[in-house]
Amino acid sequence: MNICVVGTGYVGLVTGSVFSDLGNEVICVDNNAEKIAMLERGEMPIYEPGLEEMVKRNREDHRLFFTTDLTYAVERSDVVFICVGTPPTETGDPDMRAIQEVARGIARALNRYKVIVNKSTVPVGTGDMVREIIETNRVRNVDFDVVSNPEFLREGSAIKDTLEPDRIVIGAPNHVVAMKILELYAPLERPMIITDVASAEMIKYASNAFLATKISFANTIANICDQVGADVAQVVKGMGLDSRIGPAFLNPGLGYGGSCFPKDTAALVRTAEKVGVDFKILRAVMDVNAEQPIRFLDRLRAALDGSFDGKTIGILGLAFKPNTDDMRDAKSVEIIARLLAENAEVKAYDPIAMDNARRIFPQICYGKNAYDVAQDADALVIVTEWNEFKLLDMERIKSSMRRPILFDGRNIYDPIRMRRLGFEYQCVGRTRATIPNHRH
Ligand code: UDX
Repeated sequence: MNICVVGTGYVGLVTGSVFSDLGNEVICVDNNAEKIAMLERGEMPIYEPGLEEMVKRNREDHRLFFTTDLTYAVERSDVVFICVGTPPTETGDPDMRAIQEVARGIARALNRYKVIVNKSTVPVGTGDMVREIIETNRVRNVDFDVVSNPEFLREGSAIKDTLEPDRIVIGAPNHVVAMKILELYAPLERPMIITDVASAEMIKYASNAFLATKISFANTIANICDQVGADVAQVVKGMGLDSRIGPAFLNPGLGYGGSCFPKDTAALVRTAEKVGVDFKILRAVMDVNAEQPIRFLDRLRAALDGSFDGKTIGILGLAFKPNTDDMRDAKSVEIIARLLAENAEVKAYDPIAMDNARRIFPQICYGKNAYDVAQDADALVIVTEWNEFKLLDMERIKSSMRRPILFDGRNIYDPIRMRRLGFEYQCVGRTRATIPNHRH
């Protein structure tokens, strides 16, 4: 099948690459000429394991192409995927301008029947909106259908998630159209849900909102555990073994970040509000998420005798989660901004996100590695749980610090071991844990 993918962000680039890898001819379009030039040189605009090789392979086999020319790409395609960004606005509503612009472009280029697929995370009703825009702007009287096919890929494992998704959701106006998209996914042999457009759009939001709820729930349980001397690692393990609950997304920490959960929770609260439903649970989930880093910094300030003024704080991890260089809505941004506002000196290190971090915080020091950041620090804070931080020589870290205060925002160390090593150690929900964790 000839496919056009509009937008070469995470979703678009990975979707386009995977469809070409499955044997389709794919043209990826972006209005950012610099990005397209980069891709044509074989350079990736994002860090994603396995992506560069997949793009290279399919370009060499002449199945994957890049262009800035939307008309050219749409004219040659049977299926057009819309994968452009829907960044949040101040009200919490996603900014739909890019989608509207693309829909108008598709309308102008419509030369024969095509299926237009919305892959961007968009509020319920967007399918109808795209259909109306194309209907009113098309130049030729050509038929088309609009389908919703939400993406559930995670950054850092985007290729694997696209090749082996838990489920494929196709929301279509009728069965015949659904089958056309299903055909594209058939080689993956994964569970499929064929439904109407509005339900498919809701599945995406409901799933992300539920995962965010699990995280905020675990964070609140962790905050209680810290006070009552329980070990949240044991608590969530015990909860997760109940098959009705499941073990995933119960890891407590500094809260969720990234380009999806904060935006999608806010958008669903707004959608609910507009139809007269107060999504109280989700508002609480968002509040818990906003409070989590503040709580953590309050504890750190108290450990530093009540003030950050003039103290050197080492930050380990800047990306919103490991295995990505993405800093969008990363907890590190909020934490560093607050530390700077209270006159702390900040030194930071991340295995791959430092270039992105420099654009946000040009004024802080960046270390060559974790040891560099710990040197002469009054406190060391783990913000992102990169694997390499789990294997550090902690004795060396401790002896190089001005004060051995270790704040583990992602629970990567064994509290008992850290205390034995002489750290003033705090984490999220296992600070007073008394049973050694044999995993460490
Ligand atoms: C998420 C969804 O998982 C994916 O299905 C959707 O398509 C896009 O949004 P992503 O943003 O890449 O993917 O990251 P994810 O791995 O889900 O983590 C999101 C945030 O939650 C991270 O900040 C992570 O640190 C945090 N998190 C996750 C926790 O704090 N605890 C957990 O147990 C799991």
